[in-house]
Amino acid sequence: AAWEKQVRHSSTPRRPNGFSVLVTGAAGFIGSHCSLALKKRGDGVLGLDNFNNYYDPSLKRARQNLLSKHQIFIVEGDLNDGPLLTKLFDVVPFTHVLHLAAQAGVRYAMQNPQSYVSSNIAGFVNLLEVAKSANPQPSIVWASSSSVYGLNTENPFSERDRTDQPASLYAATKKAGEEIAHTYNHIYGLALTGLRFFTVYGPWGRPDMAYFFFTKDILQGKSIDIYQTQDQKEVARDFTYIDDVVKGCLGALDTAGKSTGSGGKKKGPAQLRVYNLGNTSPVPVGRLVSILEGLLNTKAKKHVITMPRNGDVPFTHANVTLAYKDFGYKPTTDLATGLRKFVKWYVSYFGIQRRVKKETQHADESG
Ligand code: NAD
Ligand code: UGA
Repeated sequence: AAWEKQVRHSSTPRRPNGFSVLVTGAAGFIGSHCSLALKKRGDGVLGLDNFNNYYDPSLKRARQNLLSKHQIFIVEGDLNDGPLLTKLFDVVPFTHVLHLAAQAGVRYAMQNPQSYVSSNIAGFVNLLEVAKSANPQPSIVWASSSSVYGLNTENPFSERDRTDQPASLYAATKKAGEEIAHTYNHIYGLALTGLRFFTVYGPWGRPDMAYFFFTKDILQGKSIDIYQTQDQKEVARDFTYIDDVVKGCLGALDTAGKSTGSGGKKKGPAQLRVYNLGNTSPVPVGRLVSILEGLLNTKAKKHVITMPRNGDVPFTHANVTLAYKDFGYKPTTDLATGLRKFVKWYVSYFGIQRRVKKETQHADESG
């Protein structure tokens, strides 16, 4: 009964016609930011997360603490727990689901392939099974990935480009998610919006991502590996700042289930849509490193490897015209600005008391 009370309280909107949103992966990087933004504008938010140890779970607990200060409750459980999901939908008439829980990371798929199948395919299907019979039927916005473009060579990537050449099992499970979504839209009329995020970074980010552990290794004087392609071209990413992605997620939720006339194939009463949410300006990894060197006031020990990492794609570059047209998505943060905010968070989170802190504070005051 106490549990039910918490679940209801957390998911009740505080604004007129506010949403009641189930955020899966709420203890994760993007999920925690989106949960806070939704709550701040008066929507009700209930989180779901299994707090797995793919990366340091203490960071997930710290995000949970932050959310609980804003009256957001995270239910500890797995996407594959059908009875739990059914119970949540019985207790709360969710208007929306923001589905961000997944096994992320490109490289780890070679170490633990089953975790990708379990969370990204089986877990997604389990969620859709419950959502399709819920009353009301929620509109679902879920995380796809820029990795679905795989070895696509069109530059920039548009939603209609080919996605039949995934370079990793991670990418293949994200692509499978898009196909699975299509069937649930087609058969059950579920309103589904897929967001292809492009290498998202920022405060409270993921320790398994390059910008995060590069920062750590540079500060500790350890050498970092920089991968290039076989023809020794620099690998580039369309790094996208978290606040831009959050705006995109909220914009997608606002138009979810409504008719916009674009964004994808029309099937049944509700649409299936897929959008790029990138930054539209790819940056070579070498440039990412030099920005970090400047912010940290420390030279990196660089180890350049003239071979791509297994599973990596050579570049990513988003065309975001469709997301702009349908919900006004417009990224505004360049990599140097976003990394400055990340480094500022990093030094305060890890309590690093040294010249770096002064440097970033100084940079912050003058910027
Ligand atoms: P994250 O790992 O920080 O967050 C995912 C959360 O989901 C974690 O807290 C994890 O504990 C939880 N989770 C995983 N499997 C679960 C399961 N079976 N049941 C319940 N909870 C589970 O990752 P993120 O960077 O916040 O990514 C969010 C989503 O966006 C993911 O779907 C990811 O694939 C996608 N994405 C992220 C990026 C990026 O650059 N960060 C880019 C493209 C796509
Ligand atoms: C990131 C996320 O990890 C995925 O979850 C997400 O789905 C994906 O973005 C996406 O946009 O779809 P990735 O871009 O590979 O994947 O992010 P990182 O692992 O942080 O790598 C960023 C760049 O740094 C890549 O070009 C990679 O080759 C490079 N890198 C990585 C190095 O040069 N050295 C390293 O040690 C690690």
